[in-house]
Amino acid sequence: MNQSEQWSSRIGFILASAGSAIGLGAIWKFPYVAGISGGGAFFFIFLLFTLILGLPLLLAEFAIGRSTQKDAIESYKAIAPNTKWHFVGYLGLVTSFILLSFYSVIGGWIIAYIFRTITGQLNGISAEQYGIVFAETISNPGISISVHFLFMLLTVVVVAKGVQNGIEKANYIMMPALFIIFILLIIRSLTLSHASEGISFLFFPDFSKLNSEAVLAALGQSFFTLSVGASTMVTYSSYVKKSENLPRSALSIVMMNIFVVVLAGLAIFPAVFSFGLQPDAGPVLLFQVLPNVFSHMPFGILFFLAFLVLFLFAALTSSFSMLEIIVAVISKGDKSLRKKWSWIIGFIIFLMGIPSALSYGPWSDITILGKSIFDAADFLVSNMLLPLGALLIAIFVPYKMKKSVLMEEMQHGGGFAKGLFNMWYFALKYIAPIAIIFVLLDVLGVWDL
Ligand code: PHE
Repeated sequence: MNQSEQWSSRIGFILASAGSAIGLGAIWKFPYVAGISGGGAFFFIFLLFTLILGLPLLLAEFAIGRSTQKDAIESYKAIAPNTKWHFVGYLGLVTSFILLSFYSVIGGWIIAYIFRTITGQLNGISAEQYGIVFAETISNPGISISVHFLFMLLTVVVVAKGVQNGIEKANYIMMPALFIIFILLIIRSLTLSHASEGISFLFFPDFSKLNSEAVLAALGQSFFTLSVGASTMVTYSSYVKKSENLPRSALSIVMMNIFVVVLAGLAIFPAVFSFGLQPDAGPVLLFQVLPNVFSHMPFGILFFLAFLVLFLFAALTSSFSMLEIIVAVISKGDKSLRKKWSWIIGFIIFLMGIPSALSYGPWSDITILGKSIFDAADFLVSNMLLPLGALLIAIFVPYKMKKSVLMEEMQHGGGFAKGLFNMWYFALKYIAPIAIIFVLLDVLGVWDL
């Protein structure tokens, strides 16, 4: 199969991949996981993992996708025919399936908040009332399932149209706009009383707070925010022209991602401390904190609305990529198959997400290994499947792809100094597998025996 889809421009690819990367992971998940995992030390480890493991792995996925120009399964088959390596692609599909099922639930929360804001239900209410309104919203099964449905609907409509028409264009305006509104939010957040407590919580590492779970969470978080480990970036980079400079694209995506993580942290933590809220509130953190910040701004409700719309967009550009990898494998470049299967797969994922949606309401008592359904799905994807996929990719690329092919792939459109190439190769071949295995074994308690 040859790719019928292609990004139309250099910036189109960067924006689409950055769109996949930047989403709920950086804006919603990072603050709450950092909040649970002790703040500064978590942030530090996350940063380290992102640069030492995430960046090389992102580039590895790019190398697989662009060199073969094939989907998440065929690309592995093209590089390692007659082996089982394409199971890494299937693992990516399964990961994306489960991931999108609960991702869409959170995406739905954003939609619910947009409705509440438009209908004026958030006007002039206090911090506690925000908490109550939010809890009511997400525990109501009718609401949470409907908004989850709406989010999936938006995802399907765009993916059904195809990558270039649907996915690429939207990113042009939305990302820069999101940055601007974040800056406003941060200015307000930083000028609240006790803002400095939030800053020290996030930026001053207290390593005594770090345990194995937090280290694994940081590893999972760094893969999650970069969309690494699920072959998503294999798929996206298969639509890239040969003239694109992959190392430069990977670096700019990583930098943008770190930038957004810092923006989200700066917007949220000062406010958490200023309003006397709990940093370890869990997945609800952002939704409880930000309305308070906006309500302390002139025209706050309008800014809040603008933020929610852009936030929704950031989430959607990530969800497109999750559905895209599955649809690309099934439709093999055929436009009518793409349409049909986007709807079918989208609907199945919607159904699969219902238990996660209900786990904040009527099914909140159901637990799997001590976690709610939502938390269990998130844990499975973020802390197990993505690290596993990343581990396999880190092994696959150096062992199955020729060094000369990799070198050439990296040279297109500019180049990669030999020294940097060697560092990348070393990080992938030695550091990534050892570090990932170490963290996984650590959380299983192997080193304590
Ligand atoms: N990177 C996306 C986010 O942060 C999530 C994602 C993970 C998307 C893996 C695709 C694959 O929101």
